[in-house]
Amino acid sequence: MSFEDPVIIVALDYADAQGALKVARSLDPAQCRVKVGLELFCAEGPAVVEALQGLGFEVFLDLKFHDIPHTVARACARAAALGVWMVNVHALGGPRMLEAARGAIPAGGPRLVGVTILTSHSPEEVAALGLGASAERVRLLARSCREAGLDGVVCSAHETSDLQDLRADGFVLVTPGIRPQGAAADDQRRTRTIREALASGADYLVIGRPVTQAPDPAAALAACLAEARVAPARKA
Ligand code: C5P
Repeated sequence: MSFEDPVIIVALDYADAQGALKVARSLDPAQCRVKVGLELFCAEGPAVVEALQGLGFEVFLDLKFHDIPHTVARACARAAALGVWMVNVHALGGPRMLEAARGAIPAGGPRLVGVTILTSHSPEEVAALGLGASAERVRLLARSCREAGLDGVVCSAHETSDLQDLRADGFVLVTPGIRPQGAAADDQRRTRTIREALASGADYLVIGRPVTQAPDPAAALAACLAEARVAPARKA
């Protein structure tokens, strides 16, 4: 774990900037990145991204674009213009959409990652959607992201060990659904602990409610970092 490249991304799932910025101000941008998702971005727009950047945070803009290639490319270009650190699209949008997204992000712009299968889906739900076995589907989607030139994927930490061969050349695995030891799963169906996720080769861990809903978010983040530090070293 390095302070230049913090592994924990705190999901600021708030209804307004006030709540998000209050928690962000209690955290140290040297120790984590922050994630702005649909709720907060719909409420506050680019201003909240700028405010978080103003506090020194690198921002993962998690809007999971999934539309026709042209529309997704235009949205990615706008996201890149915000100077965010990471942006994402749904891998299920298909290779042409992924390539259009890649082409819209300038060199040196945000890392572009593809969402494989949401961590809130159980394997049974994935099968009911007609997507087959979830591990196999995740692998196919991750490979299509790599082939389209994306910088990584969002997947469950249950799948990271199966995707290690894709991690060459800086292709990263971003894993939500992470819970510190003993924390509630909430609505997530495929959770892993911090230690399990890092041991299985995850590069970045998205952690929301265990930090943001804690009575003391800074202390909760410190506990997560302590758990991460005793995890086995990340696989190269
Ligand atoms: O509170 P919690 O730790 O469950 O938050 C997880 C965050 O990661 C949420 O913001 C959710 O939208 C996001 N996410 C996810 N599963 C994915 C992609 C993103 O849970 N596959």
